[in-house]
Amino acid sequence: MSIVKYGVEPSVTALLHQEYKSQGYLYLKNFFDPFLAEHFQKYFSPENLADFFKAQAGRDYVAIEYKSHPDFIKEYNYLINQKNYIEFLEAVTGSGPIGQMKGHAYVSDANEKRGYGFHDDNDGNRYFLVSINITPQKYDGGVFTMRNSKTREVLFQVHNSGSYGALIAPIADNLEHAVSDVTGDVTRFSLLSWAMKLPQARRFKMFD
Ligand SMILES: [Fe+2]
Repeated sequence: MSIVKYGVEPSVTALLHQEYKSQGYLYLKNFFDPFLAEHFQKYFSPENLADFFKAQAGRDYVAIEYKSHPDFIKEYNYLINQKNYIEFLEAVTGSGPIGQMKGHAYVSDANEKRGYGFHDDNDGNRYFLVSINITPQKYDGGVFTMRNSKTREVLFQVHNSGSYGALIAPIADNLEHAVSDVTGDVTRFSLLSWAMKLPQARRFKMFD
């Protein structure tokens, strides 16, 4: 299954929707087109990353945003706002209409220890998140954990490594998630996005 190249059979979509409902998330191995993954990896060459980490030293998290990588963010957001992709996401999650997919990227390596403690991503305008791995090699650590925010019961864990896989996970008042530190030699690259109920065009400077 590729992010934009092909449509998805309605019968497959229906099965995936069942899986999302029963599991509470969807993990799709080999989701992202390798050609596109290679294309996006070029933005994160070792030289670029050294500068980038230096510029963001001391921050709690390292996010590739419009300010640092405008070309990347424009291309990536164009891709994830394609109509067929949005329709696919609405169908598999059973969400309401998506106003906009809002994407940026995370880079994590063992030196930077950029894990994320439990938080909910919940600003009241998000249905779910999509986390796509574009790391060319297997990486260690960086495990995604979802738990019930009231009971703290762990609901599921996903280690999205080893393929260009996608994790689709809900955002809700009773849910929170964490991502553990990346621990090995391989730097992890992930394309994050949120399904927004209402577009927030004013937050995206490139749309002004
Ligand atoms: Fe998050």
